Amino acid sequence: MSSLTVSHISVSFGAFQAVREVSFDVPSGGSIGLVGESGSGKTTVARAVAGLHPADSGEILMDGRVLPSRRARAQRRAIQMVYQDPYTSLNPRMTVRQILSELLRFHRIVPKSQVRVRCAELMEMVRLSESSLDAYPSQFSGGQRQRIALARALAVEPSVLVADEPTSALDASVQASVIELLVQLQRDLGLTLLFVSHDLGVVNALCESVVVMRAGEVVEASSAADFFAGPTQPYSRELLAAVPRLPGTRK
Ligand SMILES: Nc1ncnc2c1ncn2[C@@H]1O[C@H](COP(=O)(O)OP(=O)(O)OP(=O)(O)O)[C@@H](O)[C@H]1O
Ligand SMILES: [Mg+2]
Repeated sequence: MSSLTVSHISVSFGAFQAVREVSFDVPSGGSIGLVGESGSGKTTVARAVAGLHPADSGEILMDGRVLPSRRARAQRRAIQMVYQDPYTSLNPRMTVRQILSELLRFHRIVPKSQVRVRCAELMEMVRLSESSLDAYPSQFSGGQRQRIALARALAVEPSVLVADEPTSALDASVQASVIELLVQLQRDLGLTLLFVSHDLGVVNALCESVVVMRAGEVVEASSAADFFAGPTQPYSRELLAAVPRLPGTRK
């Protein structure tokens, strides 16, 4: 379990500053939803947290320790990311077993003799059959493939999971089951979760607090209870008003 702190990070693409002075805190085992309109900088923040894109300034801390811009293997392992499109993280030429085994060996998660067993356990964790291990990513449905991407992220036993719109490409019915799985895994494994979505219903079901971004900046940060009871900022109210219904709304 680890806490995650994002402190005043700014991120640019060339001359364009996509993210300005963004700060938020996720307590160990906590969950935060990063929301906002398209282009507001959510993915950019998520990628900076995962160490995939450097910040111009500001700091990202785990358990109060600053992560260097060049992260060590253990630091890379500790923060894992799940993407909207699972193909981003799954090599289409490798079976699920090959994908998972390679990671387990590279990060020395279990002794060689335990790799097979661990692969089977990972399938169980994401509620797929053990026979799934010998298939290729393209052989699965969208929802199954996202479970495999989740297994890949969890294989290295991260303490922080960054999920960038992990269900927005899925059918509504499949979405619900993947969200349910995420909720359960987060609780069981004590994961600290940074969840990126423009779907406020899903954020409401999953997150303890909400950070609203607009044009690269944080415009509101509150507990989910306060946010969904009535956000303070006009922009947040607009976002909420744009949601036709909130599945799984807390009342
Ligand atoms: N690789 C890149 N090169 C140049 N500009 C980029 C790059 N990635 C993102 N941007 C720009 O940075 C801004 C923030 O983009 P980002 O992808 O973080 O938004 P987002 O909130 O994730 O949007 P969406 O909801 O559509 O996923 C946008 O203006 C985008 O065009
Ligand atoms: Mg995005």
